[in-house]
Amino acid sequence: MRHLLSAADLDRAGAVEVLDVAARMAATQQREIKKLPTLRGRTVVNLFFEDSTRTRISFEAAAKRLSADVINFTARGSSVSKGESLKDTALTLEAMGADAVVVRHSASGAPHRLATAGWIRGAVINAGDGTHEHPTQALLDAFTLRRHLVGEDASGADLAGQTVAIVGDVLHSRVARSNVLLLHTLGARVVLVAPPTLLPVGVGRWPCATSYDLDGVLAGDVAGPLDAVMMLRVQGERMNAAYFPSRREYSRRYGLDARRLRLLPPHAIVMHPGPMNRGLEISAEAADSPRSTIVEQVSNGVAVRMAVLFLLLSAASGPASGPATEIAKEIVP
Ligand code: ASP
Ligand code: CP
Repeated sequence: MRHLLSAADLDRAGAVEVLDVAARMAATQQREIKKLPTLRGRTVVNLFFEDSTRTRISFEAAAKRLSADVINFTARGSSVSKGESLKDTALTLEAMGADAVVVRHSASGAPHRLATAGWIRGAVINAGDGTHEHPTQALLDAFTLRRHLVGEDASGADLAGQTVAIVGDVLHSRVARSNVLLLHTLGARVVLVAPPTLLPVGVGRWPCATSYDLDGVLAGDVAGPLDAVMMLRVQGERMNAAYFPSRREYSRRYGLDARRLRLLPPHAIVMHPGPMNRGLEISAEAADSPRSTIVEQVSNGVAVRMAVLFLLLSAASGPASGPATEIAKEIVP
C-alpha cells in the first residue's frame, strides 16, 4: 500500500497487520525512552486545512517518536489566506522533500487528489476529508475495541462476533463511514442509530444495519447484545439546515446518559472520537464512566499512527524483508 486514503484500502490481513504493529508500538511507549530510530532522516509533513486537536498532535507525536523530522502546516496563518491553491501548497511542500504528507481538508476527496495528481511523491495519509473518511480514526477505534473485547494479547485477531452501535450524526461523520468499512472488514456487526434526517441517502447499501430506536438497540432488542457503543459528535459546523427540533429533543432521543448506560451489557464499552458536545450527544456521567474509553482512544491514536507511518514509509523504501521482520530488528529488543 502506497497511501492510506480510505478504510477500504485495507483488507482483513492489512488491517490486522496495522493493529499488530500498533500493539508493538504501544509496548515500546511503555519504556522509559520512547523514541525509536526507525524513521531517522525521513520527513513527515502535517498539512491541516481544517481544525484538529487529537489527530494533528498524535501524528506529530507518532512521527517524532519514530525520529522523523516533522513539518507542521496549518492553513490558518499560511499563504492559503492569500489565495494559494492546494496544488501550489503541495508543490511547495514537495520542494521541501516530504516522505509522507498527512492531510486534513474540509473538501471530501482532497487527499485522493493529492495522491493521484502527481504533485507530491510521498505517501499521502487521509487525516479526515470533509464528510468522507477518517481512516486512522477507524484504526485506532478498532485497536481500542480489540484490546478491550478480545484481550491485550490479541495478535492476529480480528473483531469477528463483536457488535458495535454507532450513534448520532452519521450524515456528516467521516468517522462513521470509515468505521463501518473497517469494522465490516474485521468481521464485526455494525448498527447505525440516528434520526432519519441524519442518515445519508444510500445508507441501505452500506454493510451495516440501521435503526431509529436507541433504547431498543442499547437493550439488545434490535441487533442483539452490544459490545460497544460509539457516540458521534453533532457536527454543527457542517449543518446548513435544522436536522432536529432542538438540542433538548436530540439529547432526549439520541443522547447517551446514565439511564441509557444501564441498558448496556456489563462488559460493553463507550466510545467517542472527540471532540465531545457534553450534554448533547453524551452526558458527563457517560463520558466519564469507568466503561468510557474516550481518553484511551487518544493515546491509542499515537501507537496506531506510528504503525501507519512505519508501514507506509518502510514499504516506500522497499525493504528486502517484510515489515514484521523490520520491526523485530528495529524495535523489539
Ligand atoms: N474529530 C473527528 C473528525 O474530525 C470527529 C468530529 O470532529 O466529530 O472527524
Ligand atoms: N477525533 C479527531 O479526529 O479529533 P480532532 O478533530 O481533534 O483531530
